[in-house]
Amino acid sequence: MRVLVTGGTGQVGRALQRVAPAGYTVVAPGSDECDVADFATVARLIEREQPDVIVHAGAMTDVDGCERDPARAFQVNALGTQHVAAAAQSAGAALVYLSTNYVFDGEDPEPYHEFATPRPISVYGRSKLAGEEAVRALAPRHYIVRTAMVYDETGRNFVNTMLRAAAERPSLTVVADQRGNPTYAGDLAAAIYRLIAQPAFGTYHLVNEGSASWYEWAIEILRLAGIATPVEPIPAAAWSRLARPPANGVLANTAAAALGITLPPWQDALARCLARRDALTTA
Ligand SMILES: NC(=O)c1ccc[n+]([C@@H]2O[C@H](COP(=O)([O-])OP(=O)(O)OC[C@H]3O[C@@H](n4cnc5c(N)ncnc54)[C@H](OP(=O)(O)O)[C@@H]3O)[C@@H](O)[C@H]2O)c1
Repeated sequence: MRVLVTGGTGQVGRALQRVAPAGYTVVAPGSDECDVADFATVARLIEREQPDVIVHAGAMTDVDGCERDPARAFQVNALGTQHVAAAAQSAGAALVYLSTNYVFDGEDPEPYHEFATPRPISVYGRSKLAGEEAVRALAPRHYIVRTAMVYDETGRNFVNTMLRAAAERPSLTVVADQRGNPTYAGDLAAAIYRLIAQPAFGTYHLVNEGSASWYEWAIEILRLAGIATPVEPIPAAAWSRLARPPANGVLANTAAAALGITLPPWQDALARCLARRDALTTA
């Protein structure tokens, strides 16, 4: 099985290379080799690699940056995805598109299932939803995989930000009234491989089980790392930032669970990530 990954230098792209099952060949360029905003580059790469499956993980993921530069956000996340979807369809490859809980407004009290109505409240969310629409319109053999709060051992993510901040500051303040599902890139990648082993095309929510506020997540990160820096909960209103994350960004995995695919609880995933992070830094 030949798999082409866009965004190969990102957290999900790296994890897809690391956990690929035996018999899978994974090619995973970053944006320097495959800028999805350029259709000719995308088409040429797909033509050269002849993948059975394309996992489109490349995106402009800086959500505040998307508010500052909406044109670029749509160029990469919407138009770039349209390019990948069209090229995947012409090449006869199945397509996995990584999408986000930011497609929802976060106003519902319950976790969002796969068929809840998207209503994004940020440029990032709107541009990723436009990407979903392009995939649905152009590439029938698709898996749209929405995920949330992704982290790994080395990426620019909340886990590494908290560990660095806790080492540098006497105390931390963290938002307590926004929730989601902290999701380990390694578990997400493993679940994607289980999903694409079946021709069950459609829309999926793949997240580690359970949910947490940013505050609860920070507390667990520091507890597992053995760091005693105090953390104070604050409301999102006290934290000024350009993009507004959904207040309830919790996703329910109902579709993949029906195929027998679930991810471990987020606390278990976090403990495994931190243990591997320690091993990498002491190696
Ligand atoms: N991180 C999260 O919390 C989160 C949550 C929900 C959904 N997602 C989605 O999951 C996917 C993977 O996220 P991630 O955490 O792995 O992101 P990441 O670590 O920020 O990596 C982003 C990747 O996208 C690539 N990229 C940026 N602009 C590109 C372009 N114009 N053309 C092609 N590739 C481009 C980057 O390449 P360079 O390094 O070469 O610039 C990098 O490889 C994204 O689609 C994201 O929207 C992420």
